[in-house]
Amino acid sequence: MRAKIVAGNWKMNKRLEEAEALVFGICQSLKDATIDDAYQLIICPPALYLNTVQDVISEEDRSQIFVGAQNCHEKDAGAFTGEIAAPMLTDLGISHVIIGHSERRSYYGETDELLKAKVENALRNDLSVIFCCGEQLSVREENGHFDLVEKQVRTALFHLSPEQLSNVIIAYEPVWAIGTGVVASPEQAEEMHAHIRQLLTTQFDATLAANTTILYGGSCKPANAEAIFSKPNVDGGLIGGASLKADAFVELYKILREVA
Ligand code: 13P
Repeated sequence: MRAKIVAGNWKMNKRLEEAEALVFGICQSLKDATIDDAYQLIICPPALYLNTVQDVISEEDRSQIFVGAQNCHEKDAGAFTGEIAAPMLTDLGISHVIIGHSERRSYYGETDELLKAKVENALRNDLSVIFCCGEQLSVREENGHFDLVEKQVRTALFHLSPEQLSNVIIAYEPVWAIGTGVVASPEQAEEMHAHIRQLLTTQFDATLAANTTILYGGSCKPANAEAIFSKPNVDGGLIGGASLKADAFVELYKILREVA
């Protein structure tokens, strides 16, 4: 069955010492949680801290804590000043990369077509992809959210082989809920996750769809996580603000393990 995951997207936050302290705190808080392969934590720090964060995680903790990048380029190498290539992440032993976060889409003009290329390249370099999709408030108000998410998922993922798709985690992150304190209702999250899973069933098959992890992201925190995580098609969360505090982040993981 599909993995249940709490992933932390630190975005462009934390100074070096704070980053070390945060990952150390996460590992410490996890000490009393028994390891269960069905549940994973993924930490996605700024790229400069990937190695540092990895170094803090002990061999033992590595079976449940993974480290991911927040972005990578669509090409393997070249004259792209300031960019990070997927093979560089693989060389560091990084396992995951977030592709298509709405902040990348809106601030850096990343289109569905570009994201398709990034997904392909990341998978070719043995990275698992956390692919983000989600609508702006104006789209939801016009009732266009199902169609928009379908277009995002279709363009970036539907050309993949079943084997490739098995290395993709989907994160539904309604833009109006990101960093706003406004959280999607459990019903809103569930109906979109069910929609995404149905799209995968139609395009691939029911088994692959059932095995795909679909995370919710957007103002998720310990106070609201239980109701969201207990929905049948919600397999955990992609967490921004609450991933910047060790206790809150690990609490989310514990809630997931209790309810899912
Ligand atoms: P917040 O949890 O801060 O709303 O951010 C969600 C997010 O963008 C995770 O990628």
